[in-house]
Amino acid sequence: MEDCKGFVEKSIAGLKQQIGSERVICGLSGGVDSAVTAALVAKAVGSQLTCIFVNTGLMRKGEIESVADVFTKNFDSKLVVVEAEDRFLAKLAGVTDPQQKRKIVGKEFIDVFAEEAAKVNGAKFLAQGTIYPDIVESGGTPDKPSGMVKFHHNVGGLPDDLEFELVEPLRDLYKEDVRQVGRELGLPAEVVERHPFPGPGLSVRCLGEVTKQKLDTLREADAIVREEIRKAGLYNQVSQAFAVILPIQSVGVRDGSRIYESTIVIRCISTGDFVTADWTRIPFETLDAISRRITAEVIGVNRVVYDITPKPPATIEWE
Ligand code: XMP
Repeated sequence: MEDCKGFVEKSIAGLKQQIGSERVICGLSGGVDSAVTAALVAKAVGSQLTCIFVNTGLMRKGEIESVADVFTKNFDSKLVVVEAEDRFLAKLAGVTDPQQKRKIVGKEFIDVFAEEAAKVNGAKFLAQGTIYPDIVESGGTPDKPSGMVKFHHNVGGLPDDLEFELVEPLRDLYKEDVRQVGRELGLPAEVVERHPFPGPGLSVRCLGEVTKQKLDTLREADAIVREEIRKAGLYNQVSQAFAVILPIQSVGVRDGSRIYESTIVIRCISTGDFVTADWTRIPFETLDAISRRITAEVIGVNRVVYDITPKPPATIEWE
């Protein structure tokens, strides 16, 4: 974007005018789009904004703490963290089909979000981090209102009786522009440069049935993958880097005894458009460090493999 400062100033003025003295809510996911949206709205109307972060239990390690930290340091708006892990896990119990998982997470998210939104008395506006590619992917056009595009895209649509007017300050921007706006607004690099994370969260990286135990194992392994990728200075050269837990166990040996434990997959991809992707040629030393740390530090994991499949034929996610 050529004139980012000008865009920010214009957006803030426009938001002030649109929102007036009304209250506005914004769902924070921890992702770049929602964080930049919240930052813009907060700069415009500050304390009239309430942000809602739903802890689905499917978030990555440290995600809630980092959102809360960034938020309290940068905004003077209100943040509500909704602890809904038990609800999501109860609904996901016994479910193994990936699309079914997506539907369940989507519906539950909407239910929880709508309940919390209803508690924000008199809120008239809903701020969404819809960006231009979301509109295009949903078959919309730039001059038409997107409706509930972002929610639709990520989680399945808001109920009709939840009547808010939409505020979508990023709807004409591509991801790189959004990052630039985030930097202009002073958001930290860890937020602005964050890799995309799917709406259904770790549920689609926990193959087979989603259980608390598998999620906890996956969270620990995933944190090590990201830490080592950062340590090696590769984070910004990789489009996505994450761990997947497989629903199988394999034989191993630890302290002289035979063990039967889980397998973790490391997935690192490089892509411009996420429609096609290649696996990233991570140096062997980094892969080695990740593997050694995971098998030493994560209880119940005795095997680590690296996914060397491009998209197509594989997708980026495993489910
Ligand atoms: P795939 O696995 O289709 O992923 O190659 C392409 C990109 O989309 C992300 N992804 C999702 N994002 N909801 C989302 O919001 C989803 O259900 C979903 N599935 C995949 C994936 O992380 C990658 O960036």
